[in-house]
Amino acid sequence: MRITPVTSNVGAEIEGVDLSVEQPAEVYRQIRQALIDHGVVFFRDQTLSSEQYVALARRFGRPTVPTSGIIPPIPGSEEIAEVRKEAGRDRNVGGSWHTDQAYRKAPSWGTMLLCRKAPATGGDTLFSSMAAAYHRLSDGLKQTLGGLRAVHSNAGVQARMGTGRAPDPEVTHPVVVRHPEGGKPVLYVNPAYTVRFEGWTEAESRPLLEFLFQQGQHPELFCRFRWRPGSLAFWDNLQTWHFAVNDYGAGERVMHRIVVEGPEFDH
Ligand code: SIN
Repeated sequence: MRITPVTSNVGAEIEGVDLSVEQPAEVYRQIRQALIDHGVVFFRDQTLSSEQYVALARRFGRPTVPTSGIIPPIPGSEEIAEVRKEAGRDRNVGGSWHTDQAYRKAPSWGTMLLCRKAPATGGDTLFSSMAAAYHRLSDGLKQTLGGLRAVHSNAGVQARMGTGRAPDPEVTHPVVVRHPEGGKPVLYVNPAYTVRFEGWTEAESRPLLEFLFQQGQHPELFCRFRWRPGSLAFWDNLQTWHFAVNDYGAGERVMHRIVVEGPEFDH
């Protein structure tokens, strides 16, 4: 197995492993370590049935049961959800910087995304390191952020996606989270779900939140992954943001997603 970093801040390509067959425990340990080190890992040319895909996910934690109306489960599977943009549709899923399910009390840890159908051009996903974003801040700002909690809500996303569902209750998380594996500090706010600081109004929160949102969007902090059928990305939601780029016009894109429960951070 070869692990090659994509950039010095985020992402690594892993070659030489067939994920459809059971591997020695050491292989999964190395993949997990690469995930901790790089935030997201990428595999190519994987031929996985749904059963093999679920078995792979279980090597890393308990798959969650999808409950979102935006990303429904595929027929016949409890754990696999489908991120689909049909030919001719305008709107995509995940087309803004976010981290999955930050609006939950116990946010999801690992997301696996397996490409089943890729558009002829475009449809890449961007991944940004929120550990690197935190690292770049001044000591003064780090000190201020260390004392803050932020409120997260999926109300905006539910409304934008027109799900007709009531939003989940708001939750709060520390603005700076210590990663439960490895311990690196991570800036845990994101443009899709973070609405204000706890005890502050939205108007008071907006300028500082906007500044923090910009921090994850510096080009040197993100990498870009080009999908082909059989490509698989596995990312750590606690230390990355991602963004599904909606630049493939009328093309069709079908991805199978499994979200794995993992280590919780200190809320
Ligand atoms: C997501 O936001 O979970 C989907 C990302 C993608 O489709 O690239």
